[in-house]
Amino acid sequence: MRIENNIILAMDLTDPAEALRVTGQVIDYIDTVKIGYPLVLAAGIECIQEFKEELQCQVIADFKVADIPETNEKICNITFKHGADAIIVHGFTGPDSIKACMDAANKIGGEIFLLTDMSHPGSGKFIGKVSEEIAKIGVQLGVENYVAPATKIESLKSIRRIVGDDAFIISPGVGFQGGEAIETLKFADAIIVGRTIYLSRNPRKTIKDLIDIL
Ligand code: XMP
Repeated sequence: MRIENNIILAMDLTDPAEALRVTGQVIDYIDTVKIGYPLVLAAGIECIQEFKEELQCQVIADFKVADIPETNEKICNITFKHGADAIIVHGFTGPDSIKACMDAANKIGGEIFLLTDMSHPGSGKFIGKVSEEIAKIGVQLGVENYVAPATKIESLKSIRRIVGDDAFIISPGVGFQGGEAIETLKFADAIIVGRTIYLSRNPRKTIKDLIDIL
């Protein structure tokens, strides 16, 4: 996936009109928006298509898919049918569950991002302990895209080492969660930024300032 300016906007505002309005203010600078449960549960899954049509952007559905293979397949099919370009999938559920998502994506021409580790402090308790194994399963399956945390540079670095330079890594946790954009982009292909942009008094200036330092 090619991502303009290596920045993905995480749009987690839950008022659909406000979410579209604020994204519209920064869309000149980006072409990829991550939409997850906060907005989809508030606005309905149709908001994916609405964003794509109104803003001409790519949409990554952050649904952190984590079920048995048969259910994962259904979740992916519905998400892609509603226009998502890519979907984020948990890796801790194991290879069969990941593979079901890959197969669904391949059938429809979509992409999956495999979540290897998470950015919040509590992630050290469970997922952080198996993140390298998750990345290795991804490599064995031929996964091309990964999610790894900007808040844990050592984890991000080791995931990059495992998945290789040809893999595509997107990284959440920059800004509000403490991750640093320039450092993160040494190991990731794109950063995911949410509140720093959409809660800013001037989202357009904030994203422009960010791009200027990258
Ligand atoms: P903020 O507001 O913290 O938003 O910039 C970050 C966005 O990214 C999501 N998030 C994650 N997604 N793995 C993921 O797949 C993670 O480790 C992770 N950490 C944060 C978060 O839900 C928000 O949309």
